[in-house]
Amino acid sequence: SSDIADDLTSVLYTEAEIHARIAQLARSIEADYVGEDILLVGVLKGAVMVMADLARELTLPLNMDWMAVSSYGAGTQSSGVVRILKDLDTDLSGRKVLIVEDIIDSGLTLSWLLGNLRTRGAASVEICALFRKPAAAKVEVDVRYVGFEIPNDFVVGYGLDYAERYRNLRDVAVLAPHVYS
Ligand code: PRP
Ligand code: MN
Ligand code: MG
Repeated sequence: SSDIADDLTSVLYTEAEIHARIAQLARSIEADYVGEDILLVGVLKGAVMVMADLARELTLPLNMDWMAVSSYGAGTQSSGVVRILKDLDTDLSGRKVLIVEDIIDSGLTLSWLLGNLRTRGAASVEICALFRKPAAAKVEVDVRYVGFEIPNDFVVGYGLDYAERYRNLRDVAVLAPHVYS
């Protein structure tokens, strides 16, 4: 289809709803890290939008760094095999690290990433994820900040892709089954 709207069944969260929730998360983070200098670690590529909006919402002094880890490839199912495609530029020794993710699906990516970053001497490592799908969890991940718990539908937009498409949608929407079946 040439019209993106034909690929979507419904809007799950609008741009305005997402921004309002990110503002609330930022207030919680600010309250928890008063006087601290934090390092936001964005997980490429899905977390680009939430990282950009969360970082600009926060009034704390912060650094931003990026990792690229991928377990999905072009499909809709996690393989559980996590590869580092791009590592951090930053030494984590003594740092207060906050991992920023778009979504926790099976939990395999973040479970692995948390374990990896915790070996690097950080003062703390916490997670902020905009979405979580409780029904899809294969491993439990201790997430300090969650934006929305969502049903186990395939969602796209606001950084979330299917086969590298739809990341640029402002809203988060449910992908129509005809696109991936
Ligand atoms: C997606 C998403 C999370 C991860 C969640 O990334 O952005 O990083 O999968 O899935 P999990 O909880 O089952 O591990 P993906 O691997 O598709 O790469 P991308 O961010 O580049 O889209
Ligand atoms: Mn991702
Ligand atoms: Mg993806």
